[in-house]
Amino acid sequence: MLAIIGGSGLTQLSNMETLRREVVRTPYGEPSGALVFGRMCEEPVVFLARHGFGHTIPPHRVNYRANIWALKEARVTGIVSVASVGGIRADLAPGTLVVPHQIIDYTWGRSSTFFDGGDSAVKHIDFTHPYDEELRRRLLAAIAATGDVAIDGGVYATSQGPRLETAAEIDRFERDGADLVGMTGMPEAALARELDLPYAAISVVVNYAAGRAASADGIVFGDIELVLQQSMARVRKVLECLCKV
Ligand code: HPA
Repeated sequence: MLAIIGGSGLTQLSNMETLRREVVRTPYGEPSGALVFGRMCEEPVVFLARHGFGHTIPPHRVNYRANIWALKEARVTGIVSVASVGGIRADLAPGTLVVPHQIIDYTWGRSSTFFDGGDSAVKHIDFTHPYDEELRRRLLAAIAATGDVAIDGGVYATSQGPRLETAAEIDRFERDGADLVGMTGMPEAALARELDLPYAAISVVVNYAAGRAASADGIVFGDIELVLQQSMARVRKVLECLCKV
């Protein structure tokens, strides 16, 4: 059973047949919301809204450990993350779907490991390739199956938020090699790896990053909302196709 973690614009899956909701507790506290178990094209799936059902939890306050732990306990076989991002690279215009292949973590102060000292032995994970390649391929195949297009690969910079970046910060991210910027990619991906859960992401570009192209003079929030709605409708179709590929 696959898990889908939905971000901004995807707080519920309207095309999922809901079977039950489960409020769970974990040793790390409560997840962002109830786990919603259901079916999409006959396949079981579980959905979790990263920012809570009413979109009230900002990126730096998401209990990533509780979310990933709860999904592991639910015996999911992999996690697909959906999140909106800003496009740094010139060709990453609003409305572009990207299946990133690398991450840079600029976040701070987030609980970012299950191996946090105490009685447990120190454990290091290999994170050379942060996303699961097989799940990435499935996502790309599902996108193609819907007749949509996506960019295969991209370096995702995770910024702390909740404010958007300065133009100079975006310049720095680009010099570091980043193509897109979001606020939730880490520690989510690393925590999934710590629990041996395959993890991949669909990043939905909803704006040019600060200081770039149409965002040269600032980011216009009104424009983001429309792109978000239109793009998430496409993502819902992709998720439906996922069980067929
Ligand atoms: N920066 C960070 N996170 C984002 C952005 C952005 O420009 N757009 C959507 N999520």
